[in-house]
Amino acid sequence: MAHDILIVGGDGDLALRKLYPSLFALELAGQLSNVSTITGVSRAGTAREELLDRMLPWLQALDDFDEACWDRFQGRFKFLKGDATKPDTLESYKSTMTPGGSGLIVYLAVPPKVFGGACRALKESGLAVPSTRIVVEKPLGSDRESFLNVNAEMSEAFDESQIYRIDHYLGKEAVQNLLALRFANVMFGALWDGNYIDHVQITVAERVGVEGRKEFYDEVGALRDMVQNHLLQVLCLVAMEPPTSRDAFMIRAEKLKVLKSLRPIRNDDIKLNTVRGQYVEGSLDGEVVPSYRSEVGEESRSKTETFVAIRAEIDNWRWSGVPFYLRTGKRMQTRASEILIQFKEPRHNIFASQGHALAPNQLRIQLQPDEGIKLHFLSKRPGLGDLAMEDVELNLSVPESRKKRSYDAYARLMLEVLNGDQTLFVSAEEVEASWLWIDEIIEQWQSAGVKAKPYPAGSSGPVDAAVMIARDGREWSDLE
Ligand code: BG6
Repeated sequence: MAHDILIVGGDGDLALRKLYPSLFALELAGQLSNVSTITGVSRAGTAREELLDRMLPWLQALDDFDEACWDRFQGRFKFLKGDATKPDTLESYKSTMTPGGSGLIVYLAVPPKVFGGACRALKESGLAVPSTRIVVEKPLGSDRESFLNVNAEMSEAFDESQIYRIDHYLGKEAVQNLLALRFANVMFGALWDGNYIDHVQITVAERVGVEGRKEFYDEVGALRDMVQNHLLQVLCLVAMEPPTSRDAFMIRAEKLKVLKSLRPIRNDDIKLNTVRGQYVEGSLDGEVVPSYRSEVGEESRSKTETFVAIRAEIDNWRWSGVPFYLRTGKRMQTRASEILIQFKEPRHNIFASQGHALAPNQLRIQLQPDEGIKLHFLSKRPGLGDLAMEDVELNLSVPESRKKRSYDAYARLMLEVLNGDQTLFVSAEEVEASWLWIDEIIEQWQSAGVKAKPYPAGSSGPVDAAVMIARDGREWSDLE
């Protein structure tokens, strides 16, 4: 039995850059045998051959591109010109579906304003049956209310168990490895709470600017674009209680509890515990980088933040008193995403009389550009004489020689959709709870008049972010 895949927005940027290459990567990995057709639907006047020509360079960019696979992939590929919010379009699609297939997968690679119409049309044309799965991704609203509206429209045609909400960070190898690290190893599990952990830092630093999305980004800003989804999802995986099993329901329920335990940031705390930044002209690799405002438009007086730092707290038994520092920004000095778990200092220092302070242990989980896990601990400096300490880095990463081909997050997530496993997808309740926390920050920024502080492109963000963490006697990890 095989699935039919329908990609709405089938000639768009997301489809070309991510979806077709990911499906092709699955084809190369021999994982598409249960897919009979992949159909791109679009209102544009593209022809099938023209679309194949446009997608080919993206597929050829994959290291293991193979002509035989390309032939197989083309054999599955169809193009349909039409408006997917019109039942007529879907009626004609129906005739191309596999008779007795095991279920339709619809990817809505279009803006959320189209979700409702597409879901209604799927229902009217009889395609919203229980075996159908629907895949969507951010922006899922711009606040709690708009998310609930979009979701209500989708829910008229589909049940929660049929809706796969992508957060591509959950498809990253290193993010998934976090589950293995925490729950397959007794050592880390035993130390994973406020008794042993001093604080956590989650950083997603980007070198890129707003790229081709200036209108969208200027409306949204870094808090909605990155923190509401990616950073909070990573925070959930670090902070959640051990689930009873690796089952979508269990994992999502534990993540939701974390989101509901995030302490709202209110009143004076908004100025103390959040920092907004916007990049001004600076340099990266010796090249001058223009300011955000000039990238957005000559006359722009935009107030949108391109950087956010937040000191978050989770009000539960495990994490009470352990700050989670989040930071993300565009046009920073380096591309580096990392989770830093900083442990407490030993309770008693037996080396104090020799004048040795004990640097705390750190577990650094690098998400990108390279994946890796490193544990920093203290060891005796080898040799005779006074017992001196030195920092030793224990590399827990999978050795390069054992690394197989790496897969884009979308390939992993598409495979999970095909397998019907929602573990790596975000539930409606999680999205809603994330928005609740974010909406309040935005409201408080507005009422307290919190402005974005300038930071030079190519730097590590505004000085205020360093001041925020220094107030607690801590500092941000170096962006390696
Ligand atoms: C997207 C944001 O969700 O994630 C972009 O909209 C951002 O602004 C991107 O650049 C970062 O993803 P990654 O996988 O490159 O870290």
